[in-house]
Amino acid sequence: MTDLKVLSVASELYPFVKTGGLADVVGALPGALAAEGVAVTTLVPGYPAVLAALVEPEIAYVYHWFFGGDARLLRGKAAGLDLLVLDAPHLYDRPGNPYMGGDGRDWPDNPIRFAALSRIAADLGLGFVPSYKPDIVHAHDWPTSLAPAYLRYSGRPHPPSVVTIHNMAFQGQYPRELLPALGLPDHAYSVEGVEYFGTIGFLKAGIQLADRITTVSPTYATEICTAEGGMGLDGLLRARGPVLSGILNGIDTTVWDPASDPLIAAPFDAARPGDRTLNKRALQERLGLNVDPDAQLFGIVSRLTWQKGLDLVLDRLGTLLSSGAQLAVLGSGDPGLAEGFGLAAIGNPGRVAIAHGYDEGLAHLIQAGSDVILVPSRFEPCGLTQLCALRYGAIPLVGRVGGLADTIIDANDVARAAGIGTGVQFAPVTGERYDAALLRMADLWRDKPYWKKMQKNAMKTDVSWQRPAAAYAALYRSLVAGRS
Ligand code: ADP
Ligand code: GLC
Repeated sequence: MTDLKVLSVASELYPFVKTGGLADVVGALPGALAAEGVAVTTLVPGYPAVLAALVEPEIAYVYHWFFGGDARLLRGKAAGLDLLVLDAPHLYDRPGNPYMGGDGRDWPDNPIRFAALSRIAADLGLGFVPSYKPDIVHAHDWPTSLAPAYLRYSGRPHPPSVVTIHNMAFQGQYPRELLPALGLPDHAYSVEGVEYFGTIGFLKAGIQLADRITTVSPTYATEICTAEGGMGLDGLLRARGPVLSGILNGIDTTVWDPASDPLIAAPFDAARPGDRTLNKRALQERLGLNVDPDAQLFGIVSRLTWQKGLDLVLDRLGTLLSSGAQLAVLGSGDPGLAEGFGLAAIGNPGRVAIAHGYDEGLAHLIQAGSDVILVPSRFEPCGLTQLCALRYGAIPLVGRVGGLADTIIDANDVARAAGIGTGVQFAPVTGERYDAALLRMADLWRDKPYWKKMQKNAMKTDVSWQRPAAAYAALYRSLVAGRS
């Protein structure tokens, strides 16, 4: 029985359109929330991949001349999700990813594209679409963070709103001259509204105007209130501290299940971890690494960006290789980093391999076949790859920041003696500390009984959405109760 209707609005959605963990979260949370009595409908742009997947859609609303063209709001199901899709070809019928074309440049009309989406979320909240009215509007990241602004400046009674911050590095800042094109009134441009250092700030508006703000780990919730982590918004976040909280992400444990994963070479689980070795061999063969069960195999599955600290991996490659280890990288992004890993692979045949691009199947095999998953991020709101790694028995080596700090139990001497570690953390995120962490990893690898124990601990860690979903459900209920 569901008793609460939540409209979730986002610019990405797994399994249709994904550039990072945001899509995973938005795709997995509705299923977990259903078990909590919360019915989530997800509003997304009508990208070609979404429209193609929509099963027997109904037209919920027709807009004549909406943000520069005609549009329709479609309602239907896809991949088990209840969707509302904004079919606006002038905004979303484009190649490339949600934010940029094939040339890697952001679409110049992104503020309009995502304001339109946010506006529909608000319209639904205001009850303008007869067939669906949510009890709560939940917006994710800057592209949808104007939704609370449209609700507020409608001047009408409206449902409570939640904004979830997945990454402070992307804030959506645009010239103030756009205000009329965004359909916001002049008085919205104020410190108490959408104004942000002389521009319009999408994320700023959401943080200012939402009833609740969440981010994706408790540690990141404290980090973003500091000058370094807040990236310009720390003052406002401190001011909004009473309504800010961190709720850890989970992963979809049916998509990420080593016992039944069709994308890996051999199934395994905590009771049968031995068959991991078949996946290690398959990974080494696939990437042209030396087939060697004894070489500690480090894996990376990542966007190639400064955030992820992968330049440290290149700078300190000598340390990693000096203990006889191997490195398998799957990533896309920064051409400089891609080139760096490419050169490392050429210089170390059989020891280093890079697969450039986005490859779901290889991502699963790297998780199943690597001994260690490297996530040396400089900041990490939550991180999903270390959660996948835990579930697949690949030991995470992580920077002690954000969600990485909250999800990995460092195998320090005390943890080791008690048999409770699940990975290795290092801080601060510098070359020296990273080097030291690599040496600790090599030391742990030599202690085979403890390594096996760590793998078991990792695989038994609850990385599901169950607890996080209960936390979101409690937050929604407290908001609705506060209104009645
Ligand atoms: P972020 O969202 O900052 O990129 P997360 O760890 O939260 O980091 O989520 C990343 C998600 O994207 C994970 O599901 C990971 O497996 C996936 N991923 C990242 N890079 C690739 C890639 N090159 N190929 C396949 N999957 C990838
Ligand atoms: C962002 C963050 C990542 C987080 C993901 C999903 O992309 O960089 O840490 O896991 O969003 O919340």
